[in-house]
Amino acid sequence: MVKKKVQGLEGNRRMSQTTVDASTTRVISVTSGKGGVGKTNIVGNLALALRRLGKKVLVLDGDLGLANIDIIFGLSPAYNIKHVINGERNLSEVMMRGPEDIQIIPAGSGVQDLVHLTQGQKLNLLNEFDSLDENFDILLIDTGAGISSNVIYFSIAADERIVVATSEPTSITDAYALIKVMYTKHGTNTFKLLVNMVEHDEEGRSVFENLSNAIVRFLKGISLEYVGFIPRDSNVEKAVRQQSTVLTRYPESSSSRSFVDLANRLNASQCSAAQDGNIKFFWKKLIAR
Ligand SMILES: Nc1ncnc2c1ncn2[C@@H]1O[C@H](COP(=O)(O)OP(=O)(O)O)[C@@H](O)[C@H]1O
Ligand SMILES: [Mg+2]
Repeated sequence: MVKKKVQGLEGNRRMSQTTVDASTTRVISVTSGKGGVGKTNIVGNLALALRRLGKKVLVLDGDLGLANIDIIFGLSPAYNIKHVINGERNLSEVMMRGPEDIQIIPAGSGVQDLVHLTQGQKLNLLNEFDSLDENFDILLIDTGAGISSNVIYFSIAADERIVVATSEPTSITDAYALIKVMYTKHGTNTFKLLVNMVEHDEEGRSVFENLSNAIVRFLKGISLEYVGFIPRDSNVEKAVRQQSTVLTRYPESSSSRSFVDLANRLNASQCSAAQDGNIKFFWKKLIAR
């Protein structure tokens, strides 16, 4: 798993070696304008589907207000990222092994806004991620909803952003508002759209058309890519009630098959911004803001 930080010269030498090796982590955030659109379930199931493609996956619960990725992985974390920020625990003590060897960094309620961390707290985070010497192929971040700074900062620091929307008009307008803030305030101009809880691809594509028409009209310079849809499937909720994921409990269901397809498509696509995609660099970008 994760080794404790090694102090001194030997540690530095070992860390620089790690930095070179770990330069290929693909950081993907899953975000939305409106809450309750399925982000946490998407992250959980996508993590499993990517794991089954042989990827080493780390999941960060970035919903610092309303954390729950641990629930669908059946975990009860004793510690969370707050303890790392405050220097009370090492990252290795906070990280948990979930189903099928997915690793999770849990969040917790009451974690402070990342923009308001003290210098000491920022250093705690950076030092801990420096000492992470396990290589991950993918870091998936489950963010909160809306345009608060934590949501946005995780997404603009990521290499790729999957914006989740449903066919509800409010979810589409909130997705537009989120994209607009990231673009106009931070210059982020590439987004992927995943449409959840629809009946078929046509419905997903019509949500994409809606959003994309508004973007072409009012926010020139943005690239929005449709990455597919996940059907409405009562097995998703059934699995959540069993504190699990649909891919674990109902692997043959329609939503499970869509999660597998989505993982295959993401895996086949090149990461557009992987040039500086290691985890340490991600945290530097995040915290430097
Ligand atoms: N494809 C789906 N089909 C049916 N129900 C879904 C689907 N995706 C999510 N849900 C349900 O919607 C609710 C919100 O999902 P959740 O993943 O917690 O959303 P978020 O993290 O965006 O707040 C949950 O009750 C979940 O079971
Ligand atoms: Mg959630």
